[in-house]
Amino acid sequence: MARNLFTEENFQRLNEVIEANRQKQGALMPILHEAQKIFGCVPMEVQKIIAEKLLIPLSEIYGVVTFYSQFTLEPRGEYVVGVCMGTACYVRGAQPILDKISQLTNTKVGKTSEDGKFTLEATRCIGACGLAPVITVNEDVYGRLELKDIPGIIEKY
Ligand code: FES
Repeated sequence: MARNLFTEENFQRLNEVIEANRQKQGALMPILHEAQKIFGCVPMEVQKIIAEKLLIPLSEIYGVVTFYSQFTLEPRGEYVVGVCMGTACYVRGAQPILDKISQLTNTKVGKTSEDGKFTLEATRCIGACGLAPVITVNEDVYGRLELKDIPGIIEKY
């Protein structure tokens, strides 16, 4: 199972971060950044605490969290696998590749595997169309992929 980051100790750390920043202007972004680091995500439970302490409407915080891709509502896995679904990659077989990765990692798009290891994402064009179809695993980029390459790549992680 994924690590449980919702410990009393981590909520204590969140409170300290809020206390240290609450009087500052523009306190919300730094607090959300720290919350993402502490919990690995910023779920509703955490947003509610921040909203109450900063006297900011929850809807406003939710808007910020869902707007910026550095914040997530659910914890991300150790490895984030991005499958480019841009046009060039799509026409060169991104969909079967995505399906294969989903099957091998036991993860659906936008979700994290039970063991917390993989998060699977369908991304827009990442600007490497010459290498289509392309996938990324954290910082690593793999291009000109064929279905048969996928198990070997996933195995590395
Ligand atoms: S469409 Fe995949 S990199 Fe551009």
